[in-house]
Amino acid sequence: MLATRLTTFISTRTIRKTTLRCIGSKVSYSTGSEFTVTDNEINIDGKTYKKDKWTNVSPTTLSRVNRKLHLHPQHPISIIRQLIESHFHDFKTFHDISPIVTTKQNFDDLLIAKDHVTRNRSDNYYLNETTMLRAHTSAHQLQGMLSGANKFLISGDVFRRDEIDASHYPVFHQMEGVVYFDRDQIKTAEQVTKDIEMGRLKEAENVKVVDDTIIKPENPMQESHTQETVEPIAAHLKYSINSMVRKLFADEPDLEVRWIDAYFPFTSPSWEVEIKYKGEWLEVLGCGVVRQELMDQAGLHDKIGHAFGLGLERLAMVLFGIPDIRLFWSQDERFIQQFTPGQIQKFQPFSKYPPCIKDISFWLPNKSWEENDFCELVRDVAGDIVENVELIDDFTHPKTDKRSLCYRMLYRSMDRNVTNDEINVIQERVREAVEKEFAVELR
Ligand code: DAH
Repeated sequence: MLATRLTTFISTRTIRKTTLRCIGSKVSYSTGSEFTVTDNEINIDGKTYKKDKWTNVSPTTLSRVNRKLHLHPQHPISIIRQLIESHFHDFKTFHDISPIVTTKQNFDDLLIAKDHVTRNRSDNYYLNETTMLRAHTSAHQLQGMLSGANKFLISGDVFRRDEIDASHYPVFHQMEGVVYFDRDQIKTAEQVTKDIEMGRLKEAENVKVVDDTIIKPENPMQESHTQETVEPIAAHLKYSINSMVRKLFADEPDLEVRWIDAYFPFTSPSWEVEIKYKGEWLEVLGCGVVRQELMDQAGLHDKIGHAFGLGLERLAMVLFGIPDIRLFWSQDERFIQQFTPGQIQKFQPFSKYPPCIKDISFWLPNKSWEENDFCELVRDVAGDIVENVELIDDFTHPKTDKRSLCYRMLYRSMDRNVTNDEINVIQERVREAVEKEFAVELR
């Protein structure tokens, strides 16, 4: 998975009420999966999963499973999905595969080593040791290949425990694309790429693509591939992505796009594509030439393929000018009613409500600390009202060697004013939960 993200337990019943109370008029999205959690089991939509020491999924997260924002025709995430699908119009599409996957699908099938850091409990949501909420749509690459389609797109919700800020949320949406060719047909693909590139695409001058990546030992082609097959497949990949980006950003003035080298266990060579937005480079997708071992698992020995995985929120935030990732989950009609299926329109912010800032400081029981676990707990207690959590002090006492941390929490509602009194109540609950869960000494 990406090194940085493309765009994390306690009962949540009261919290959900708090969140719902702040909503004026409601919008009917899919309500998501039905679930119950007991001491020993989790039941989701009638299927039971035995808990074990890996289980770390919370009711708050389960309540977001299968909400299917990417299938609501008026939702920006869905609009982007549809625009990409219509660009790759002859691809088979999968957009309703359950996000509950095996760890084999999420990791092993993709050649992710048993001890790879992306398997960490603190980065993922596990139902138990062998079942999890998918962390990326790549979990279905093999399934797509086995379907017999040689070009396909898979979109869906993905789940990662993460930090808290305006561009990170524990659930987001990805789209995966895979294309493969007969190895001896790939020369034709190269010709196609070149012809189209020379013609139509040169017209899109508002989008400047910088790509000085070359295949080199640090980002090598695979042993079982030859230069004659890898170069055209890479060219086809780059053409496919650049043309899609140009299409999506056709109305955006002066967009800069750049290709950089990357590493993924399931592709080689691998790249990332970034776009410059408000002066900053944002990573929007990862891609590469599919590792032949993966193709072999699907029985595609004489094929060569490329794949990409893109973050739909990132693209939607840029294209629609949406400033905060929580807005995608807002059930306020003033959000959804601004959008029209099939169209990219700039989001008109409703007035920005003032924030309420609170700090929390504590001594750790020992020096180790998983920030993602802390953020997850804060989200569980406070819900979507927490906009940002930032470490503002990390201090180790010179005599006692005890470590103290101070986090600053910014609370703000997307749709109303919050009062200091109500935030004090939430903050007190956060303090109690942090003390209980992590055995810290509050200061
Ligand atoms: N699955 C990766 C992630 O979530 C993104 C990705 C990278 C997908 C390379 C791909 C790929 O299909 O080829 O970070």
